[in-house]
Amino acid sequence: MAERKYSNTSSFFSICIFIVSCNVISASVEDGLIANYSRTIRYTVPKNIPSKTTVLDLSHNQIQEIRSFDFHSLPKLQALILFDNQIKVLNFSVFQYNKDLQYLDLSHNNLQALFGLPIPSIRHLDVSYNDDIKMTLCSDSGTTWKLEYFGLSTKRMQKSDFCALAHLQVETLFLGLEDLSEYHPAFLPAFNMKNLRIVLPNIRRFPIILDLDLNVTESLEVSNIQDDQIKHSITFLLKHNKNGRLLNLTVTSIKISWRDIVNVLTVVWKSTIRYFHIYDVTVLEFDYSVFSNIDTSLQALSIKQTRLATVNVNQTIVYRTFSEMNIPTLTISDSGILFMHCPSKPSRFTYLSFSNNTLTDTIFQNCNNLPLLETLILQRNYLKDLTKVSLMTNPMKSLKYLDASHNFLQYEGENKCHWAENMVELNLSSNMLSELVFRCLPINVKILDLHENHISRVPKEMLKLNNLEELNLAFNKLTALPGCDSFRSLRLLNIENNSVLSQSSEFFESCQYIQRLKGGNNPFKCSCELREFINLGKQGSVELVGWPDSYMCEKPEYVRGTLLANFHISKLACNVTLLVAVILIITVVFGVVVCIICLRFDIPWYLKMIWQWTQVKRRNWKSQQLNTIQFHAFVSYSEHDSDWVKTVLIPNLEKEDGSIRICQHERNFVAGKSIVENIIDCIEKSYKSIFVLSPNFVQSEWCHYELYFAHHKLFSEDVYGLILVLLEPIPTYIIPARYHKLKALMAKRTYLEWPKEKSKHGLFWANLRAAIQTVLPNNEEMEELQG
Ligand SMILES: *[C@@H]1O[C@H](CO)[C@@H](O)[C@H](O)[C@H]1NC(C)=O
Ligand SMILES: *[C@@H]1O[C@H](CO)[C@@H](O)[C@H](O)[C@H]1NC(C)=O
Ligand SMILES: *[C@@H]1O[C@H](CO)[C@@H](O)[C@H](O)[C@H]1NC(C)=O
Ligand SMILES: *[C@@H]1O[C@H](CO)[C@@H](O)[C@H](O)[C@H]1NC(C)=O
Ligand SMILES: *[C@@H]1O[C@H](CO)[C@@H](O)[C@H](O)[C@H]1NC(C)=O
Ligand SMILES: *[C@@H]1O[C@H](CO)[C@@H](O)[C@H](O)[C@H]1NC(C)=O
Ligand SMILES: *[C@@H]1O[C@H](CO)[C@@H](O)[C@H](O)[C@H]1NC(C)=O
Ligand SMILES: *[C@@H]1O[C@H](CO)[C@@H](O)[C@H](O)[C@H]1NC(C)=O
Repeated sequence: MAERKYSNTSSFFSICIFIVSCNVISASVEDGLIANYSRTIRYTVPKNIPSKTTVLDLSHNQIQEIRSFDFHSLPKLQALILFDNQIKVLNFSVFQYNKDLQYLDLSHNNLQALFGLPIPSIRHLDVSYNDDIKMTLCSDSGTTWKLEYFGLSTKRMQKSDFCALAHLQVETLFLGLEDLSEYHPAFLPAFNMKNLRIVLPNIRRFPIILDLDLNVTESLEVSNIQDDQIKHSITFLLKHNKNGRLLNLTVTSIKISWRDIVNVLTVVWKSTIRYFHIYDVTVLEFDYSVFSNIDTSLQALSIKQTRLATVNVNQTIVYRTFSEMNIPTLTISDSGILFMHCPSKPSRFTYLSFSNNTLTDTIFQNCNNLPLLETLILQRNYLKDLTKVSLMTNPMKSLKYLDASHNFLQYEGENKCHWAENMVELNLSSNMLSELVFRCLPINVKILDLHENHISRVPKEMLKLNNLEELNLAFNKLTALPGCDSFRSLRLLNIENNSVLSQSSEFFESCQYIQRLKGGNNPFKCSCELREFINLGKQGSVELVGWPDSYMCEKPEYVRGTLLANFHISKLACNVTLLVAVILIITVVFGVVVCIICLRFDIPWYLKMIWQWTQVKRRNWKSQQLNTIQFHAFVSYSEHDSDWVKTVLIPNLEKEDGSIRICQHERNFVAGKSIVENIIDCIEKSYKSIFVLSPNFVQSEWCHYELYFAHHKLFSEDVYGLILVLLEPIPTYIIPARYHKLKALMAKRTYLEWPKEKSKHGLFWANLRAAIQTVLPNNEEMEELQG
């Protein structure tokens, strides 16, 4: 019954979780996953958490119970944030499968009991701001547990609370005691941790500070000190720091009068403290108390977030107090200070930070008493004139680093700048500087940050910055990659989020030493002009930070959004000289090939012949002459064989009966036509063509000519009309190469061989006659047709 009820609730929750988990923000970290269910679920730990999760944020929900199986399927879990829920009981055994769990935040729950043995992997455990927790940790006396951070808070000071601490080796202990209502000094243990952070109780009469035993503590942070106790408390604390272990003292959230500030500073100056921090100070009232320097071991004073609760303040006294301090490091930030005096004598300051105040250009003008100052931070103030800032640094002989970012700096190019000579790092980011700034820079600078200004180019006429190694020009208005003519040693260049469309030849000519280039998020125009740049990314000779994901084509329209890495353009298409050269080479090669082919196969000759032939055809067609067959055969022969043809061949074929007519171009010559035309005519009008082959024939150009026409007719009219008579044997080698047609014919076709023996002649003639025998229209009909 109970089980059934349980499963019902469980499925009800699953639905909730399913609905809610759509809003879950999951992000991949290096090799794990952040699953963030902050403010998105209600009563139970969701079931469908990805098993790769390393960081699980379940804060600001209403989880009441951690069930034994909740984290079983998360073997990679390293950090679990359960801050601000309503968990009442926790048994450490729920983490038995989370062997890597290091960070566990259970603060701001209703925890009343922690059971089981803590997991050895945990380094950070925060159980502060719960109900009174009973920790069974005490009973297990044998083992000690090492933690880097342990957060705890309690309402009643009981011995049992602190017995837990006896078994812990904690580096940093946080004790939230705001709500302490019962206190017994005897229960306050001797703290054996390096760093102790205590929030003091709201009830004033519990003198916790006076009862602290800090023999080994090096760093103490106290907050919620009552206004009237602060001077007393700090005095007491520091007087009792006999062994001088305590080095860092941080006081937060105090309300204090100027007089007490001076008193506290005096106490600190006399103590062995090295670092004194005051955060979140409200100055209640002002008087003319003056702080006087004494020798001190204090290294650094830092004051942040100061507010004045009185208008009646003598600024001179306040600023003098700080500017005359004989310590190396001073920080006053987020405090609205308007001015800072120049020290009246050479000062010990090596580090001054006045970030997020309201300082103007007047600060430290003509100040010769900061000879040791190496670092000056003036971030987020109201500096306006870059010339003045440069003049300010000029007497600071040791100044190496100036941060003037997030000001309102401008430079119009009219006045000369005089920077501190030794300055190597200058941060002018987030100002209103134009490209004229390149005329006003410290010449030995190595690292220059000019991001988020109004720079549209790196001008040619500018100072030579031969030592410059890193230049940040991100978030400006550059339209092309800058050249490095004026900073030859540049190794790192940042031009992210500009308007860079194309590369510039100057960049590739002059920036030889570049090792890293951050150039992403620019509206690149993907065309030939960007080719070298794209190759830069592909080759990897220069490390392109963010390649390939943040390098995208913006123009032209059809490739918008394409990664540069996926944009291909050939070398040929981009290089005009190369293109012309290639076309030229191809043309020349083609020409040469054509010439060779022409010569090899005698193409011009064929062309000439075709031309002639078509001419004849055309003329014949024009004269309406019907080219009907009039002869049985046309005879082609070499002049040297004419005797045989005239005395043997023709008489033997053209018997007296006239049944076979032979066209012989000399005999059937039509006046007024050229020899070629006559021959073509003859061929056209003949049923077959007889070729008398002999070595003489082969030598004769005319004969070849005739053979060509006959063959041409043969194919064009599809008549099987070629008869070869081999008068004398022809060795193939004597046929010139260009007469390939003849060669082919002789190789393929059978031919009639003129027999030497007389007895075989009869058969030869019979064969030949049979080959050309056909019925032709008689002469009268012919004339009718021709007429
Ligand atoms: C989870 O998201 C909240 C805001 O919704 C944010 O404050 C918190 O830092 C995130 N947690 C982690 C671990 O990133
Ligand atoms: C804690 O969980 C373990 C394992 O589930 C169990 O053996 C033990 O009894 C639990 N402790 C308490 C106090 O419930
Ligand atoms: C801390 O030092 C005081 C005296 O200086 C001594 O009485 C006390 O026992 C020491 N406490 C520890 C935990 O060493
Ligand atoms: C003391 O403060 C300084 C400066 O904030 C810091 O560098 C140092 O680590 C601190 N020392 C301890 C022990 O916390
Ligand atoms: C502020 O104090 C200085 C030094 O005590 C004094 O010279 C100056 O007149 C005072 N200024 C005002 C406005 O009271
Ligand atoms: C600057 O200081 C003011 C208080 O003077 C504070 O409210 C503000 O958050 C600070 N700004 C930054 C960016 O730290
Ligand atoms: C310059 O200051 C900005 C913040 O004002 C900071 O983000 C940047 O890292 C600084 N540059 C250098 C080179 O330190
Ligand atoms: C930088 O540019 C990218 C792409 O153009 C843009 O998404 C991003 O918001 C820009 N970053 C800033 C801080 O403006």
